[in-house]
Formats: sequence, structure tokens, C-alpha cells
Amino acid sequence: MDNFTFHNPTKLIFGKDQTEALRKEIPSYGDKVLIVYGGGSIKRNGLLDKVKSELAAANASAFELAGVEPNPRVTTVNKGADLCKRENIDLILAVGGGSVIDCAKTIAAAAKYDGDAWDLVTKKAVPTDALPLGVVLTLAATGSEMNSGAVITNWETNEKYGWGSPLLFPKFSILDPQNTYTVPQDQTVYGIVDMMSHVLEQYYFHSKNAPLQERLCESVLQTVIETAPKLLEDLTNYDYRETIMYCGTMALNNMIRMGTLGDWGTHNLEHAVSAVYDIPHGGGLAILFPNWLKYTLNEGLKQSKQLAIRVFEVDPEGKSDEEIALEGIERLRAFWNSIGAPSTLKAYDIGDEKLDVMVDRAMANGPFGGFARLEAKDVTEIYKMAL
Ligand code: NZQ
Ligand code: ZN
Repeated sequence: MDNFTFHNPTKLIFGKDQTEALRKEIPSYGDKVLIVYGGGSIKRNGLLDKVKSELAAANASAFELAGVEPNPRVTTVNKGADLCKRENIDLILAVGGGSVIDCAKTIAAAAKYDGDAWDLVTKKAVPTDALPLGVVLTLAATGSEMNSGAVITNWETNEKYGWGSPLLFPKFSILDPQNTYTVPQDQTVYGIVDMMSHVLEQYYFHSKNAPLQERLCESVLQTVIETAPKLLEDLTNYDYRETIMYCGTMALNNMIRMGTLGDWGTHNLEHAVSAVYDIPHGGGLAILFPNWLKYTLNEGLKQSKQLAIRVFEVDPEGKSDEEIALEGIERLRAFWNSIGAPSTLKAYDIGDEKLDVMVDRAMANGPFGGFARLEAKDVTEIYKMAL
């Protein structure tokens, strides 16, 4: 393993009716709370009312920032930061999925920064302080509820970048699986693909001697593969929602990857596509990941073969390593197809018209990929394979 220090300060509050924990958590941070949420799903399913009554029980006053977009925009972040400064907000409370949480994280830092939030996202400025952030998660996917990263889009320049700081860890995150009952079929699928992709990004590493890390990755994947089809047949089943929610958090809170450095190239490839075309993150990953796996087949042969045998139950008898690995990749593709995820960019009407722009955005910070280093020519090839 590589040497490592692990520190994840987020207090995770998990389970049925745990939204009620808000009344205990909020008073530690003050009495002016900014609720950040998306396009209205929490109004329609009653969660906003529940959150507001929790705030009332904590004697806190509620301010609201509604309308956070999927693939959240920096303009919304700046609006939220202004509101925090104007109203002297004590605590930001994100009630939503990854987009809402990422927007709220960036607001938390921008509220303590004198300038455009885009400076933080592009790392021109490093935050030195942030408002405290609490989360009520409504969609199992990104793991943002228990990590220190955020992904923000600048729609004017068609740029979408991830950034992070230890200051962005939520102070607490409330995960009640019941709050995900209303997530529609397609978003449930995108979330499933996203959490599986997070595990795959971490499964490919050059660090030596990390057998438990591999097994942890494999067990998250196996659990998702086992549960996802049942959940998609029964979207309000508590047990299935609970399992998937826990998998989503474990897939990206750094616990399965201690002492290893993963790849994350496919995420960079996907962010460049959604920066230009505004497609759902999980949809983009479903299209791109099997192509990345095929493109890096030689470099990733050991892992892809192991993945095929251990997770996708490929029978290795009489087959070459390449054949085994490829069969595993096909089974991954078949699984994602079977739950309704897209497999080509055509599914989003994306052709090669803006291929150069996507390559340019993916290469914004130079060659990338902690496991398989990609240059512009590799990126172009992978996008072409995905058309
Ligand atoms: O906006 P509302 O009306 O709330 O609807 C949302 C949105 O349309 C809906 N939704 C969420 N919870 C719901 C619900 N609908 C009904 N019932 C509920 N309980 O779902 C739609 C998608 O929400 P969004 O937050 O965009 O989805 P997700 O959680 O997949 O987040 C995607 C964003 O996170 C970034 C992605 O790039 C993308 O911008 N990521 C963040 C990461 C991180 N911070 O660690 C890592 C990821 O790899 C990812 O890049
Ligand atoms: Zn992701």
C-alpha cells in the first residue's frame, strides 16, 4: 500500500425517520439556516415541509435557495454566497442529490471568499474558511454526502470541473432511505451507474499489496449488482433503497481506497461531455466506462481479468486473459443495458460535431488518469469508440 492518512469528519446519521435528527444537530451551528435545494422534488414529496418543521423545532429561521440545476451552475453558487453574506447565515443545509450538495459545498466556501466562486473551482484561489454544511440526502449516487469534493459547471464557457477542500466535508449528513422513494426510475439507474463507476475508478491502481481494498471494491459492486434489479422493480422498497444508499456512500467516502491511488480518468472524460451537452453524469459514465476499459485493456489486464472472474462470474476455463477480461467488460455493459442505462453517445443525440471541444475540455489540465495516463489522442479515440 501507499502510505496514507485517513480522516473523514462527517457525522453520518443513517436510517428510517432520521430526518428528525435535524432538530438536535442544528442548534450547534446557530439559528440562521439556508436551505439549498433543486427544482422542486422536495416540495412535491413533502420533504421541504418536514425540514422546515425541524428547523422550527430547533428555533432556527429558514432562508431558501431553490432551483439548483442538475450539473449545478457557478451562477447559482454566486447567488447563494451573496445571500449568505447578506443575511449572515450560520449553517447551510443541502436537501437534495449530488448537484444540490456540490452547489451548497461551493457556496459554503464562496461565502467566506471575496470574489467569484469560479476562482475556487478552477483552483486560482484556495479557500481558507467555509460555513458549516449539513446534508439531507435525497438521491443515492455521488457520495458527495460524505466526501470533500464538488463538481461545478460554468455554462457560459462550457466548463465543468471537480474541486475539493477538507473544509467542504459536511458536518453531518442525514440519510433516510425513505427520502429516496420518489427518485424516478431513470435517476435511480444513473445513481447506480455512478456509484459502480466510483468503485471501478478506485479498482484500477498501481499500488502494491492492497488485497482488502480490491475485495472491498468487489463487494460493493456485487451488492449493487444483486440489489439494483430488485430495486428497479420495487422503487419504494425500504430494504433495497437502504442497501443502495449505503453502497453509494461507501463507494466514495474514501474508505474502500485507503493506501491506493485510483484512476478517475473516466470521470474527467464524462465531465467534459456534460460540460458541453448537459447530460446526466451517470448516463455519460455508462457510455464511457466500458470504452475506457477496452481502450486500456492491456494496461488494466490484471484487474479486468480479476473483475471478470470475481464480480461477473466469467468462467476462465480455456480462455486467454484478454478473452476473460473482455467478457467481463461485456457483462458490465450488458448489466447496465439491462437496467436501462444508455450505451452510446447517440442516445443523447451526440455526434462528432463538438468532439474537438470535448477533447479540449477533458485536456484542460493536461494528461490525466492516475492508472492509465491519457493524452489528447487517447481521449479522441475513446470518444470515437463511444459515438
Ligand atoms: O432538482 P430536483 O427537483 O430535486 O430533482 C432532482 C434532479 O432533477 C432529482 N431528484 C433528486 N432527489 C429526488 C429527485 N427526484 C425525486 N425524488 C427525489 N428524492 O434527480 C435529478 C438529479 O439530481 P442530481 O443531484 O443532479 O443527481 P446526482 O446526485 O446524480 O448528482 C449529479 C451531480 O453530481 C456530480 C455530477 O457531476 C453531477 O454534477 N458528482 C459529484 C461528485 C462528488 N461531489 O463527489 C462525484 C460524482 O462523480 C459526480 O461527478
Ligand atoms: Zn461520479
